Amino acid sequence: MATDVSKDGTKRHIDRIAAMQDYALYRDLSWEGTFEDYLDIVRKRPQVTRNAFQRVYDMIIGYGTEEYIDNKKKLVRYNFFKDELEGGRDAIFGLDIPLMSLVHVLRAASEGFGPEKRVILLHGPVGSSKSTIARLLKKGLEHYSRTPDGSLYTFRWKNLKDTGLAGKDAADGDIFPCPMHEEPLRLIPEAWRAKAIAELGLSNEHFKVKVDGDLDPACRFLFKHLLDRYQGDWAKVIENHVTIHRMLVSEKDRVGIGTFQPKDEKNQDSTELTGDINYRKIAEYGSDSDPRAFNFDGEFNIANRGIVEFVEVLKLDVAFLYDLLGASQEHKIKPKKFSQTDIDEVILGHTNEAEYKKLLNNDSWRPCATARSRSTSRTSRACRKRRASTRRTSTRIASRASTSPRTRSRSPRCGPCSRGSKTRRSTTCLCCRS
Ligand SMILES: Nc1ncnc2c1ncn2[C@@H]1O[C@H](COP(=O)(O)OP(=O)(O)OP(=O)(O)O)[C@@H](O)[C@H]1O
Ligand SMILES: [Mg+2]
Repeated sequence: MATDVSKDGTKRHIDRIAAMQDYALYRDLSWEGTFEDYLDIVRKRPQVTRNAFQRVYDMIIGYGTEEYIDNKKKLVRYNFFKDELEGGRDAIFGLDIPLMSLVHVLRAASEGFGPEKRVILLHGPVGSSKSTIARLLKKGLEHYSRTPDGSLYTFRWKNLKDTGLAGKDAADGDIFPCPMHEEPLRLIPEAWRAKAIAELGLSNEHFKVKVDGDLDPACRFLFKHLLDRYQGDWAKVIENHVTIHRMLVSEKDRVGIGTFQPKDEKNQDSTELTGDINYRKIAEYGSDSDPRAFNFDGEFNIANRGIVEFVEVLKLDVAFLYDLLGASQEHKIKPKKFSQTDIDEVILGHTNEAEYKKLLNNDSWRPCATARSRSTSRTSRACRKRRASTRRTSTRIASRASTSPRTRSRSPRCGPCSRGSKTRRSTTCLCCRS
C-alpha cells in the first residue's frame, strides 16, 4: 500500500512519477488570459500572429541549415529533415534538391508571392518518402506550437448562459470554444482592424502584423448577437465573453492538423472536409442554418492555422478536387448552409508518379491539372517537359503522316520508268541505271 511505503521513508510511486512532470511547462502551455493580455503578447512577439505558411517556413528554418558544394553547385541541407526530434527515425537522405525546392515554395508562399494559393503536391516513385515528408511537417508543427517561438493563440466564448445563446442543453455549459481555432485578432472587425494594429503598434521592424479574413460562421453568430445585446459596445463583448488561450497543434486531438484519405465513394462525401449538420442540435436550436447546430469539424475546419494532408490525393473523387480548388485558390471553404468561410492552412497532397502521369494524360481532369501545374516549381517543370514532349510527339506524328505525299512530290522522279528515285541526288532509279 502507498502509505506503507511512505512509512519506510521511501517516496510513493505516484510521487516519483509526478516529480517527472514539468509543471512550469504545463502552466505555460495551458496559458489563459484576457484580450488585453493577448495584445501585450502580440506587442512583444508579433510573430504569434503568423499565418500557416509563415509558421511552417519559420519552423523549418528554425532548425538551421548547412551549405555544401556538390558537383560545383551550392546546395542547402535543412536540418529539420534530419528528424532530430525523434532521433532521426524519419530522417530523409539524398533528397536535398527536391527538399530545397519544397522549402523555396514554402518561402514564396510565406511571403505571399503566389504559391500560398496552390496545393503543394509531392509526387515521385513509390517509396520516395512523400508520406515521410508530410509526417515530418505535421510532427514538426505539433512540436513547434509547444515552443515559445512557435506559440500561437486562439479563443473561446464564455459566460454565455445568461445571454440565452448557450442553448437549453445544460451539458453545453456556458463555454463555446472557437471551432476553427481562429486568430484572436479576427475579433477586431475588419473595417478597423488595420487601423487598430497600426495605432497599438503591434508590428515591429522584424514582423508586420497582418490578419486577413473574418470569423467562422459560429463565432460570427455569437459575436453579432452579443454586440446587439450590448448595444454595439465591442469592448463589453470582448471583456465579458472572450478568453484567449494557447493553441496546441495536435493531430490526435484534431487541432491544427487534418488528414484526408480516399475511401470508397459510399463512405465519403464533402461533409468530411467542411463539416456537417448536428441533427441532435437542430431540435434544440430550431433550424439547420443555426451555426450552433452545425459541427465545424471537417478536415479543412480543424486544420485551420496548420496543415491539411491529402493522402494519395489523385485517387480522390473529382468532386473533392473542386473543394480543394476553392480552398487553395481562394482560401475559402463552403460549409453546407453557410457562407464561404476563410481558412488559413497549408494544403499538402501526395501521390505516386504513376497516378500523376495518369492525371496529366487525362483530358477530363485537365482543369485540375492546370491548377496543380502552377503549384510547385517541380510540377511546372514537369508540365513544361510534358508540353515539350507533346510538341515533339506531335511533330513526329505530323512528319510521319506527311512523309509519303511530301517526299513523293519533292523527290526526283526516275526519267525512264517515272518511279520515285531512291536517292535524292540521282534522277534515275537504281534498277534503270543497272
Ligand atoms: N530519401 C530517403 N531517405 C531516408 N529514408 C527514405 C528515403 N526515401 C524513402 N525512405 C524510407 O522509405 C520508406 C517509405 O517511404 P514513404 O512511405 O514515405 O514513401 P512514399 O513515397 O510515401 O511511398 P508510397 O508511394 O508507397 O506512398 C520509409 O521508411 C522512409 O523512411
Ligand atoms: Mg506514401
